[in-house]
Amino acid sequence: MYGDIDRILIDRDSIADRVEQLGTQLVGDLGGVADAGNLIVVPVMTGSLFFTADLVRQLPLAFRIQPITISSYPGRSTSSQGIVDQSPLPPGISGSTVLIVDDILDSGRTLGHLDTMLRQAGAADVRFCVLLRKDTARAVEVDCNYVGFDIPETFVVGYGLDYDGLYRNIPDIAVLRSSAIE
Ligand code: IMP
Ligand code: MG
Repeated sequence: MYGDIDRILIDRDSIADRVEQLGTQLVGDLGGVADAGNLIVVPVMTGSLFFTADLVRQLPLAFRIQPITISSYPGRSTSSQGIVDQSPLPPGISGSTVLIVDDILDSGRTLGHLDTMLRQAGAADVRFCVLLRKDTARAVEVDCNYVGFDIPETFVVGYGLDYDGLYRNIPDIAVLRSSAIE
């Protein structure tokens, strides 16, 4: 599996440092909302699994974690196919501040769709926290409040991100060899 890696784009120590910084920023911005009992963290599964796990442990605040599953990159695709699968919205959205946590902003379709759904469900505020923001033309413009790293337009795996369900467990953000992508 590691033989499929062309290069490491962001190593694990840089990720850990940046996650800590994001945590500090989030505590400053959302501490009051959490104190008022109005914060829900919604990780977008499965890509944000490790990012969320690391990030929420930097937040000594009171909030519920309500994952949602949404997919736009089925199987062996390396570009967004539009929303193909989505679990129901979690309960308790109405009147809450929702912090969406996702692995990567690419076309913007996933987060744009969630923004619409959550606002329709009566969220008081919707914030987006992504580990990666890809430098690419967006189909849907999404204003991410918290961004870990801006990256070039390249397909990456690791730290939760997959290709055909694989490579999520690589601890760094990596670029695959073209021979590994069909
Ligand atoms: P968007 O809807 O096009 O913004 O895509 C967002 C979703 O596509 C992310 O949550 C990822 O699951 C997936 N995705 C986008 N770019 C990549 C990538 O480079 N590697 C792996 N998954 C990606
Ligand atoms: Mg995703």
